[in-house]
Amino acid sequence: MSSQLINGKEIGQQIRVSIKEEVQQLATKGITPGLAVILVGEDPASHTYVANKEKACQQLGIYSELIKLPEQTTEEQLLQQIEQLNSSAKIDGILVQLPLPKHINEQKVIETISPLKDVDGFHPVSVGKMLLGQETFLPCTPHGVMKLLEFSNVDVAGKHAVVIGRSHIVGVPMGQLLLQKDATVTYCHSKTPDLEAITKQADILVVAVGRAKMIKSHHIKEGAVVIDVGMNRDEFGKLCGDVDFADVVDHTAAITPVPGGVGPMTITMLMVNTIQSAKMKLV
Ligand code: GUN
Repeated sequence: MSSQLINGKEIGQQIRVSIKEEVQQLATKGITPGLAVILVGEDPASHTYVANKEKACQQLGIYSELIKLPEQTTEEQLLQQIEQLNSSAKIDGILVQLPLPKHINEQKVIETISPLKDVDGFHPVSVGKMLLGQETFLPCTPHGVMKLLEFSNVDVAGKHAVVIGRSHIVGVPMGQLLLQKDATVTYCHSKTPDLEAITKQADILVVAVGRAKMIKSHHIKEGAVVIDVGMNRDEFGKLCGDVDFADVVDHTAAITPVPGGVGPMTITMLMVNTIQSAKMKLV
């Protein structure tokens, strides 16, 4: 079966062109969107992610502040930093890179970010509004996946969508967004007894578990659309997803590669959310 490659780099780029136009429009009204990114500690992967976010801001004309704090930063210091950004007129979006060092309560940090600047969509207010289908900041990765499906002309309505993974960042909101587009949604996770029996029924399979190449061709229904959210290193140190691309690709109607699939969309949607927040100044 010939499979369509869902190119996140290209789709992300298309969206960024329209973001750039929006930034120029806002500039004529005296508004420069601003994003603050806080990074605590020395995690190398987090440093790379954060650098990419800064680069995207620069390319699009979005003002950015990168706040790097040492590993031993106290929770109180971090909360104070967030409060300061909550009241800064230059900042429309605040993102605290996760994971945080163990001595800091992640949920408390998330709940300190003003819901009006919660461009990650992790605050309980944002999560609640998303569940109710109200306008809010949608979490970037699942939002990016929905855009990939839309730009690839994958009709979600009436399809059986199976989501593997139930993290608050990806899995749970992913299923909800698919449900809102009228998919029939099943969640699978580490306690699912017979994974294959369920994934075999998926018209759309979204995999967000964080285990290199765990999904093989025997998990896939012929002609499924497969979205791979994973970002791992294989036994040779090469970047790979949660899906064994080479094994699976010929059985799919469409599939995202890793890298170049979901990854570029996450940052793009962060930029979209930052613009959405800056536009609130217009009314
Ligand atoms: N760490 C991994 N993914 C994310 C994300 O989407 N947002 C934040 N803040 N941290 C992350």
